[in-house]
Amino acid sequence: MNLRTPGPTPLPEEVKRALAQDMVNHRGPEMAALMRETTAILKDLFFTQNDLLLFTSSGTGGLEAAVVNTLSPGDRVLSISIGYFGHRFRTIAKNFGADVSPLDADWGKAVEPEQVRAALEADPRIKAVMVTQNETSTGTTNPLQSIAKVVKDAGKLLLVDGVSSIGSIPLETDAWGCDVVVTASQKSWMTPPGLAMVSVSPTAWEAYRQARMPRYYWDFDEAKKYADKGTTPWTPGLSTLYALNAAVKLMQAEGMQHVFARHKRVADYTRGRLKSMDLKLFADERYASDTVTAFVSPEGVEQKRILRRLKEEHDVVLAGGQGKYEDSMLRVGHMGFVDVPDVKAALDALEQVLSEERAAKAAPPVPR
Ligand SMILES: Cc1ncc(COP(=O)(O)O)c(C=O)c1O
Repeated sequence: MNLRTPGPTPLPEEVKRALAQDMVNHRGPEMAALMRETTAILKDLFFTQNDLLLFTSSGTGGLEAAVVNTLSPGDRVLSISIGYFGHRFRTIAKNFGADVSPLDADWGKAVEPEQVRAALEADPRIKAVMVTQNETSTGTTNPLQSIAKVVKDAGKLLLVDGVSSIGSIPLETDAWGCDVVVTASQKSWMTPPGLAMVSVSPTAWEAYRQARMPRYYWDFDEAKKYADKGTTPWTPGLSTLYALNAAVKLMQAEGMQHVFARHKRVADYTRGRLKSMDLKLFADERYASDTVTAFVSPEGVEQKRILRRLKEEHDVVLAGGQGKYEDSMLRVGHMGFVDVPDVKAALDALEQVLSEERAAKAAPPVPR
């Protein structure tokens, strides 16, 4: 199957083989070696010297961990949202009692650093800023580096949802001053779902010591204490960890600059092909994502019919839209284990289905 959804993403052979390994004692030396090696490589790929914690969960668990470990009920937070996942991060903060101040852009647009600066200047009570680097629901990437500069110049804590960005597009955790960065194994990491990876800066640890939101499973300090002993507080998703270990070694061998260049090449190719099919891309071109491309379902052709024909006739799986665009958008995932021939095959199939559908629509009705 040519799986072109924005997560889960396809697995390299080395990763599939790693998944087949037998269990070990997760309190024993094999686990310690596995965790230490994986964490050390992950830190390089995050461009960080900060602590890097692993949680057995999907990305949303990592987002909840970021919130409950750094904030107290009543804390004022600036929540930047440009789509479905920005709203999810916001909802988590709200549900745990944060006093959320929203900063939104229309879906398909990014937030400009000047807007963030104005929002911070207007409300000195803001303690932290939450932002999604890459909004998977619209294929739009916020200019994180310049947003981070504004946030750090203002001395605020910066919590980043990097779930569908880090590992595929540049995110320099330390150089940009990102205090907490969250990602998940099934995205850029060429690994099955099951692990969230979270980096925690010294500033985030200071916030941790003040933070009073309730937490148990997600407690950073528990995770860190156990990580120092080469294990996790709770039983880990061991097979996913084997897979992640194999995957990060592949990424390290390729080199992150090459990984970023590959994603850019694939994204440019995808956008070019979609435009050549007269399809309307959803994202503002200046901020178009290199990990997922969203386009508007062509007029007169039912989105579900396109998805079904692609799957049944070509074994190609694209994603539909989310939230208010659930039925009117299509998305091509191109993150992780992907290169141009993979998207070419999917887009050739899309072109064929669309030309057949458009021809059928244009054809005069058959006389009875
Ligand atoms: C930007 C972003 N944030 C958060 C999530 C939630 O991750 P999960 O589905 O792994 O909980 C996703 C998943 O698609 C995402 O793309």
